[in-house]
Amino acid sequence: AIDPQFHENREQVDEHNGHAVWGPVDEPEELGIHGTHVAVDFDLCIADGACLEDCPVDVFEWVDTPGHPESEEKADPTKEAQCIDCMLCVDVCPVDAIDVDAG
Ligand code: SF4
Ligand code: F3S
Ligand code: ZN
Repeated sequence: AIDPQFHENREQVDEHNGHAVWGPVDEPEELGIHGTHVAVDFDLCIADGACLEDCPVDVFEWVDTPGHPESEEKADPTKEAQCIDCMLCVDVCPVDAIDVDAG
């Protein structure tokens, strides 16, 4: 599962589509965590798609990640600022790749 303390245990190494990327990143095999309020561990995501289908405010968009061992696309939290903290995505992800800081 995604480390809920990622912002303490990892360093921000990049930005992507307006959100932070938390390393380590070593493309294409290792992609890190995308987002902060809505964080997706790209190295765990298997492109199940439940988060995209269920998010009521369309926070996620597919991004292509060719060459990644788990899946060749990922759910990118491009609109994390719109999140209403419903926690549906956290509940439906089969590999617990998503953390939402509803704090
Ligand atoms: Fe969307 Fe709810 Fe997940 Fe926020 S917590 S990204 S609103 S499904
Ligand atoms: Fe990936 Fe989980 Fe969404 S596997 S596509 S983050 S439901
Ligand atoms: Zn991203």
